[in-house]
Amino acid sequence: MDVIKVEGGHPISGEVHVGGAKNSALKLMAATIMAPGVTTLTNVPNISDVHVMGKVLKRLGATIDVVDEHTLVIDTSSVDKWETPYELVAKMRASTAVLGPLLARFGRAVVAMPGGCNIGARKIDLHILGLEALGVDFQVTHGNIHATTPNGIIGNSVTLEFASVGATENLMMASVHAKGTTVIDNAAREPEIVDLANMLNEMGAKISGAGTPLIEIEGVGELHPVKHHVVGDRIEAGTFLVAGAIAGGPVHVTGFDPNHLGLVLKKFEAMGVGIEREEDGCTAWREGRLHSVDIQTLPFPGYPTDMQAQAMAMLSLADGQCIITENVFENRFMFAGEIARMGADIRIEGHHAIVRGVEGLSGAQVKSPELRGGASLVLAGLVADGETTVSNIFHIERGYEHFVHKLEGLGAHVRRETIPDDESVE
Ligand code: UD1
Repeated sequence: MDVIKVEGGHPISGEVHVGGAKNSALKLMAATIMAPGVTTLTNVPNISDVHVMGKVLKRLGATIDVVDEHTLVIDTSSVDKWETPYELVAKMRASTAVLGPLLARFGRAVVAMPGGCNIGARKIDLHILGLEALGVDFQVTHGNIHATTPNGIIGNSVTLEFASVGATENLMMASVHAKGTTVIDNAAREPEIVDLANMLNEMGAKISGAGTPLIEIEGVGELHPVKHHVVGDRIEAGTFLVAGAIAGGPVHVTGFDPNHLGLVLKKFEAMGVGIEREEDGCTAWREGRLHSVDIQTLPFPGYPTDMQAQAMAMLSLADGQCIITENVFENRFMFAGEIARMGADIRIEGHHAIVRGVEGLSGAQVKSPELRGGASLVLAGLVADGETTVSNIFHIERGYEHFVHKLEGLGAHVRRETIPDDESVE
């Protein structure tokens, strides 16, 4: 089994460049279905989730040319299938992002129901309710969602009960060719949604208001292929800023817009982290011991759930006690149990975590509970006493490109190793 081993206590500083956002690249890849022809995506991260989305598109009939590590040329002219099987949806829930594009192009789609997920139930009822309001009919049989549009897709007004990222994206894509205008109220406002709307508009769609809670989509005819650069990954950036904040720094992160981390950087400053914002990046460093600060996760521009575990790693070492409230996913505190093995003092009560800062962490064998929690265990290992071995690193590789290599570039003593299964933590 593959593990990441970290030797704690070495100074961390220098510059690191982040890639394109995973959560944007996956949806942009799905959206290429809507513009038959050859679309080029640049700044695509080379991570396993992108490979899975590549498989989904190929299953549908697309061809993908990997021009260089970060450039994909996707030809969707011969896409002639509209079915995404469970084996791919089970690997990656974001495979359901093809639902909207398939409905837009073919007026029908068959997508396997996503199963349970390790960070909560992650239902897709909001996608379905919203699409039904646009005239989509759903039948669920044998674990598959069969979507059809007997009278075409018809513009309507949809109010989301929760500002779901995935539901906003599927609705935005499905309604691009609708008859009339679609309005999504209480839409998610994440930068990745703005990136998707921008690409669709470059392709000829008429979408306004992306980045606000009210998105308007005026139905248009055919879309045309384009060349599009994926927005920088604010979560990868935030993760490396935490490396600087927890281990000393300064760490200078480039390749993203610091406005996309607005509240995250404010919380870091409240913890006593030094922050310097630039146009295309940010620098973080620590001067003294971190201070405890309460955090609650919320949809953008609130504090992102995808930066919750990284904050928990920092706050585990802060001076004092604080509460982290998880409002987005009901079961996203599995990281707490793992970092507790390293000496952190965290009590979970429902969707609150009470974190009492300790003086230091000690290296231990731990396992990645999920993508961001896994990366955060490696960050904790940077400052723990002795060696930390993180297993289940396939979670980390879903979303971080060359994570070990980039940390090495900052001076971390970290390596990826294959160890015999009986030495690993399953
Ligand atoms: C996306 C991101 C993920 C991020 C999350 C919240 C991708 C590939 N993933 O996930 O990294 O953590 O946004 O910022 O972009 N919900 C329902 N019914 C629905 C849809 C969602 O109950 O139909 C619930 C979910 O169970 C969850 C919450 O709403 O509790 C947020 O989900 P959503 O915003 O849709 O997240 P994803 O799009 O799945």
